[in-house]
Amino acid sequence: ADADKGTYPYYMLKEVDEQPAVIRRIEAKYLDHAGNIHFDQALLDQINQASKLYIVGAGTSYHAGLVGKKLFEKFTKTPTEVVLASEFAYDDPIIEDQAFFIFLSQSGETADSRQVLVRVNDEWQKPSLTITNVANSTLAREADFSATLEAGPEIAVASTKAYTAQIAVEALLAVAMGREKTNATAVNFDITGQLSKVANAIQTVVDEKGKIEELALATLRKTRNAFYIGRGLDYNVALESSLKLKEISYIQAEGFASGELKHGTIALIEDGTPVIGIITQSKTADHTRSNLQEVLSRGANVITMVSEDLANSTDDILLPVVDEMLMPLVSVIAAQLLAYYASLQRGYNVDQPRNLAKSVTVE
Ligand code: G6P
Repeated sequence: ADADKGTYPYYMLKEVDEQPAVIRRIEAKYLDHAGNIHFDQALLDQINQASKLYIVGAGTSYHAGLVGKKLFEKFTKTPTEVVLASEFAYDDPIIEDQAFFIFLSQSGETADSRQVLVRVNDEWQKPSLTITNVANSTLAREADFSATLEAGPEIAVASTKAYTAQIAVEALLAVAMGREKTNATAVNFDITGQLSKVANAIQTVVDEKGKIEELALATLRKTRNAFYIGRGLDYNVALESSLKLKEISYIQAEGFASGELKHGTIALIEDGTPVIGIITQSKTADHTRSNLQEVLSRGANVITMVSEDLANSTDDILLPVVDEMLMPLVSVIAAQLLAYYASLQRGYNVDQPRNLAKSVTVE
């Protein structure tokens, strides 16, 4: 069964490996053979009236929301704000009449997110959707609509397949909404073909384990800190990638927008500081390259994760190409594996990191 570790040493590695199958399961659930996308029609009617979308989440789910913002804005042209549940629960926001709330939660039980949903229902009385891995969870029951992630049970505390499932379902929903609005970008986007490419691309990256394990050994084994940098969607993935490293390897890791380095962060770079650059967006690839040069010349130990079409012979991890909007689904896999091997090599219990719980039901 899905919740059995089998021959894997840790659930996390098993769950990383499952991601191509999860993407295919999501395709089977939400797409038919004609390429139609299936969500509850009442949901599509309601959400397409929204003048503003809010995406609410915590931890990794918040990071999936950051990617979601770019997907919803690209395919539906609806302004979208991503909020941390624990902040928004006690903020004093200005809620538009036509606001719609999307809750992202693997467990569907996170107290911080539920606290926001209580306000959405009681105080603001706005429509909502919960996207979750647990169909009968509290957040699924208390929202107006729910959609499932189809990721199967996620046991490791560090979330992996739920993050990629959240992005895939957000992409499907965004394209479905955009098609109904006859948004040209959405109408022309081959979501079926792209998700199939994504599943294959993820498989290629998980098959590169040996290479990633060596990179972890060479750069992360002894370090006290490490940085991920990127721009746009690559910045969003840098945040999730550094969270993975923090959670299970206890390396003090941060994700930075690469253009911000020069505005302060670069002061942290010393001889041997690991800096991992993510480059999958053609518009900003050259900029991030020159930001990597700046840290290299200050002694940083640079690792690059680059889409094959933007790569050169010195890059470390090559990522198979899918549409740029979906590259987070591919690049994050390499980061998940780097974190996994860093944790393993430093001798920690990968699945049960200290101080963390899988589902946090207190505020
Ligand atoms: C906990 C977990 C994180 C997770 C966060 C949000 O802190 O350790 O991995 O991202 O909760 O959980 P959710 O179930 O709402 O996605």
